[in-house]
Amino acid sequence: MKFFADTADVNDIAELAATGLLDGVTTNPSLIHKSGRKFLEVVKEICGLVDGPVSAEVVALDHATMMKEAAVLRAIADNIAIKVPLTIDGLKTCKALTDDGAMVNVTLCFSANQALLAAKAGATFISPFVGRHDDNGFDGMQLISDIRLIYDNYGFDTEILVASVRHPIHVLEAARIGADVMTAPPAVIRQLSKHVLTDKGIEGFLADWAKTGQSIL
Ligand code: G3P
Repeated sequence: MKFFADTADVNDIAELAATGLLDGVTTNPSLIHKSGRKFLEVVKEICGLVDGPVSAEVVALDHATMMKEAAVLRAIADNIAIKVPLTIDGLKTCKALTDDGAMVNVTLCFSANQALLAAKAGATFISPFVGRHDDNGFDGMQLISDIRLIYDNYGFDTEILVASVRHPIHVLEAARIGADVMTAPPAVIRQLSKHVLTDKGIEGFLADWAKTGQSIL
């Protein structure tokens, strides 16, 4: 499963990229607002930090303006993935952009039928929001299972990008189901490495090592 960081914080992205575990980045208008940076400027900087896809979202709601915004975003770097909302205009834009060779991430997906439409529109990625789904009393992971089943039934290439990830169990379940990608806040990605028994084990080994009076270097 590929790991994307869901953030526009360049320090976090640089730190995660240095681990070699980061396959891409997703941003959205809320994350850009949180960064306090200029959209085009921060996205350009992010594209230089990771080799993989960097999602940048259009904000227009009509197809014609989405295409104009997408042209500006595509000019930033080769690893830009244009993020469009799951609306009829967004799907039309997705089809036009992918036909033209661009990567497209169709976002704000909350149903398997929406995911089916995105695949038919040639989306590179479909982003079902599991956390927001759960928050509203739906089963986010059931949605991922349904999309996996449907995409496999028809051999769609669209990658399932599990978004709105809130905790390590979301990541575990997404991996069990066979999602292609998950995007999570950097804190959640770091949390995946944590286990109380790992910490306790290190503590015990180091205490015994100290008693040997030896050093490796
Ligand atoms: O980038 C889209 C998605 O990951 C947003 O997550 O936590 O705002 O629901 P969240």
